[in-house]
Amino acid sequence: MGISIKSFNDLDDTVNNRGFVHPLSEISLAFIEFAKNAPGSALDIGAATGVATIPLLENGIKTIAFDLEKQHLDILYNSTPDPYKKNLHTMVGHYPMDINLEKKSVGAVLISQVLGFLSGDEIREGFKKLNVCMNHGAKVFIINYTPYMSITASFVPVYEKRRRTKEAWPGLVQNISKYCTDKELLHNLPNTLNLLDPMILTRELVNAGFSIENSYFLGGMDVPEKFRLDGREWVGAIASKI
Ligand SMILES: C[S@@+](CC[C@H](N)C(=O)[O-])C[C@H]1O[C@@H](n2cnc3c(N)ncnc32)[C@H](O)[C@@H]1O
Repeated sequence: MGISIKSFNDLDDTVNNRGFVHPLSEISLAFIEFAKNAPGSALDIGAATGVATIPLLENGIKTIAFDLEKQHLDILYNSTPDPYKKNLHTMVGHYPMDINLEKKSVGAVLISQVLGFLSGDEIREGFKKLNVCMNHGAKVFIINYTPYMSITASFVPVYEKRRRTKEAWPGLVQNISKYCTDKELLHNLPNTLNLLDPMILTRELVNAGFSIENSYFLGGMDVPEKFRLDGREWVGAIASKI
């Protein structure tokens, strides 16, 4: 029995102005594969209506679907057939503030297109909290927006200058509408985004005690057409708890 909520072949709006539900990325697919034999439950942070949670449930994996928005999780829960519900635990809350899970209980974590809505301090706090609730050998899988998207193309020189002067969070844009005047493109996005890159993710994951497996730019055809720029639109990272 498969679960079907809606077609995920294209972008679906979130209801809280926090971007979109994206088709599964290669990072999310790697997370689902790893979660099948992970040393603990799967944790999907910013699960939305369940684009990654659903395949986990279909594979019989115990999953915590965590999201800021109750309406997203209600859609997920109500669309989940009864036999799968025993493996689904939905949690409404703010990451990192409300992540207080049992120590070493989590085996695999996905944070897909969520960190961009957080401050640098929140990203730091979140990785430290995750390290505590993750078991040894557990992995965290991350995907996030970078400055190299169509909507922030004219912000790239600012970002690159900040990188050269070694600012801690060079991709923090507090006024995206200054850089993109096409309101249609900015639909359903907040005016502030913390755009990340492989260097920043590596730095913060290592500082929080993780070992980096991979941290790289990705994009191109995997990115919705309206956001494509030069193939570096997203950053992906995989790290393990030592
Ligand atoms: C851009 S959507 C991504 C959904 C899905 N992970 C994906 O990759 O398609 C962001 C999701 O993260 C949730 N979110 C944003 N900030 C959050 C936070 N601080 N804590 C928990 N969830 C958050 C939003 O409610 C939304 O469902």
